[in-house]
Amino acid sequence: MTTTTPAMDFGPALNSVLDTVDRWQEEGNYPLFPVIAEPLGTRARLADGRLVSVFGSCDYLGLSRHPAVTEAAVAAVQRFGTHCYGTQPVGGFTELHRELESSLATFFGTPAAALFPTGMQANIGVLATLAGPGDAVLSDQLNHGSITMGGRLSGARLVTFRHNDLADLEAKLIAAVGDRRRIIVVDGLFSADGDFAPLAGIADLADRHDALLIVDEAHSGGVVGPHGRGAAELLGVLDRVDVITGTMSKAFASTGGFACGSERVMRMLRHSAGAYLLSLGLVPATVGAAVAAVRVATEEGQRLRTRTADNASALRARLREAGVNIGASEAHVVLVHIGRVDDTARIATRLLEQGFLVNPLFPPAVPIGGARLRIGVTSAHGRDEIDAVAKAITHAQTC
Ligand SMILES: Cc1ncc(COP(=O)(O)O)c(C=O)c1O
Repeated sequence: MTTTTPAMDFGPALNSVLDTVDRWQEEGNYPLFPVIAEPLGTRARLADGRLVSVFGSCDYLGLSRHPAVTEAAVAAVQRFGTHCYGTQPVGGFTELHRELESSLATFFGTPAAALFPTGMQANIGVLATLAGPGDAVLSDQLNHGSITMGGRLSGARLVTFRHNDLADLEAKLIAAVGDRRRIIVVDGLFSADGDFAPLAGIADLADRHDALLIVDEAHSGGVVGPHGRGAAELLGVLDRVDVITGTMSKAFASTGGFACGSERVMRMLRHSAGAYLLSLGLVPATVGAAVAAVRVATEEGQRLRTRTADNASALRARLREAGVNIGASEAHVVLVHIGRVDDTARIATRLLEQGFLVNPLFPPAVPIGGARLRIGVTSAHGRDEIDAVAKAITHAQTC
């Protein structure tokens, strides 16, 4: 771009995004893009020298610093280098990728798994493959944006039902009786609300109305359920889910997405999903780390999950006692509801200044007027850190 390129007009909606960002920066209320100089587990040194407690991470089992995981990432680079030859069907699939597929399938108790470059692409690829013109995709209104994108890209009729509202879902399934196929898709644990989908009721409706059921276990996989298999296991419906989607970017302390389900569906994804075929295979370091993380989540998972759950329940209790509005939060993702975007940006900035990194969520990730903070609780947090962040949030809300 030359210096003579005229300022680009993005249109009123997008221009207002940049206006807001400019205003936050001028007022000293800009909480985004903190530059991390040194990650230290639940603490991090920022580039300006500040030490912060990290509550903005989804490393729910604390595996990103586990020696078995970091050593596996290094060993993968030493053996396979930093890159892979191509997309998965043409050279981007090593013995490590094969091992990760089979360990994810074993972990989630499904016949097969397929790896995607990201969890976002897993959702897009699964929906755009399983649904098509003539079908109805029934999607919870608070589902992750990548599910909405996949539903739109599929060419199916995208029908949104009210959040966790079984009656509304049933009404919409009945209205979809003339569609070729009905596909229900939900987040197992809603990451912007912290509540679980009522999966037992949803599975009953799927049976009654001959619908497929897809559950995104991005935030719940590895973390909840007797074996860490996610919300579907926790709620006793694992064997009634047709396809699980998920990510290695949270409890599995790496990056990359996956789908788990029948061998036939996985083969179809591997041979036809654009979101699978059009990006390079996952690089060896991320695959090596994820293989080790799945192993640790199997071998040490019970202890780590208990610790995450105890930490989360302590934080929820502290915040509720202090009168902080955490809405429906019932797991390790705890939401602090604030409302206005400016207030949310200001509070997140103050918290960062006081040494707490949390995630501010703004529309469109949440509804207009529903800006909030997301606190990710992990097994690695100490109870002193939980107490300190609860105190800081309570104080920041009242200032
Ligand atoms: C519910 C849900 N699904 C999918 C994703 C996408 O995961 P990834 O980071 O691997 O693209 C996210 C990421 O935040 C998520 O919250």
